[in-house]
Amino acid sequence: MASSQTTRWLWRNVTLFDGLEQLPEPMVVLVEQGRVAGLWPESGFDPSLARGAKEAASGGVMTPGLVDCHTHLVYAGDRAGEFEQRLEGVSYETIARNGGGILSSVRATRAASEDELIAASLPRLDALLADGVTTLEIKSGYGLTVADELKMLRVARRLGELRPVRVLTSLLGAHALPPEYAGRADDYVSLVCDAMIPAAAREGLADAVDVFCEGIAFSPAQCERVFQAAQRHGLAIKAHAEQLSNLGGSALAASYGALSADHIEYLDEAGVQAMAEAGTVAVLLPGAFHVLRETQLPPIELLRRYGVPMAVASDANPGTSPICMPTLMANLACTLFRLTPREALAGMTAHGARALGLGLGRIAVGAPADLCLWDIQQPGELAYAVQAGRLRQRVFNGEVAYAR
Ligand code: NIG
Ligand code: FE
Repeated sequence: MASSQTTRWLWRNVTLFDGLEQLPEPMVVLVEQGRVAGLWPESGFDPSLARGAKEAASGGVMTPGLVDCHTHLVYAGDRAGEFEQRLEGVSYETIARNGGGILSSVRATRAASEDELIAASLPRLDALLADGVTTLEIKSGYGLTVADELKMLRVARRLGELRPVRVLTSLLGAHALPPEYAGRADDYVSLVCDAMIPAAAREGLADAVDVFCEGIAFSPAQCERVFQAAQRHGLAIKAHAEQLSNLGGSALAASYGALSADHIEYLDEAGVQAMAEAGTVAVLLPGAFHVLRETQLPPIELLRRYGVPMAVASDANPGTSPICMPTLMANLACTLFRLTPREALAGMTAHGARALGLGLGRIAVGAPADLCLWDIQQPGELAYAVQAGRLRQRVFNGEVAYAR
């Protein structure tokens, strides 16, 4: 039966970045039943290999669909006022300690219905899709009650049904201490471990559990309790760690087999080594570094030396990275952290997928066909120039989901 699922699509003469590197010559790509079914050099290509396939396009640069492995896309309200305060010299920590920051987004998000959160978040999701995203992670963390955290996760799941995109969810109950638990942080951590995580697991709403390990958030000992609860419920582990100081959160997360440790500006060599040994991905978030005007650089050279895979993500959130443009993140990863364009692109494809525990983000025969076709000459231009509108086609699960 001829359903759209069985369309065979052919791309001719594309310059191909396969998720780790650029192939040396122009390629032909065949997609069938949601997967890459053939990959040949253009020169000497025998069309009988792809008989009956429709030509989707010719020319351009093809990359895997972009993977944004760290976002806080679901929230209500905005924090434009805090942006101005910070420009006047007030620090992110001071704003947080005075009840603003994350807690300001918590107030707005608690007050919003699921439908209101969908309406607020869809334009942000659409901006990511228009810039090539085919898979993204969305965290909770602005609810901080069982009901409001589950509400955020349900909204994240619904977003994945409303658009042709793959959404993974992370429960970030341990993001900030809600005001009703002031002075009782350990009791709040118990709520996360004994109520939030079990409920999210039972309802199938979370793929992973995340924590914010920081002086203004949760201690390593508290994060460890959350990791243990995640493990009991079979959920993957991620951590915001070493963003503003070095508490050893990344090494702790690695010791629990975390998929990733994220931010990591203050990570030291022992932490890098722990991540290397555990296979924990380093998720770099240059948008937050840029917006907070940070100066402490993540230890890129050590990460390279120890072979820790580096992912790059938007961290899209109302406070530290109100930016929904993954290719800008590639640019910032190069200009601010001195990644090479190749590393930045791998960070948003193969390594981004790995930070989510997914075998996506590669273009290879047999791989799921999540692809982007860009109107540029060379893959590195995605990191070099900051320009919307270069995406010609976005292929999700083997079907052309967007074509201009
Ligand atoms: O990834 N670091 C903690 N959490 C977010 C910021 C959340 C916010 O400020 O709303 C981050 O930077
Ligand atoms: Fe974050």
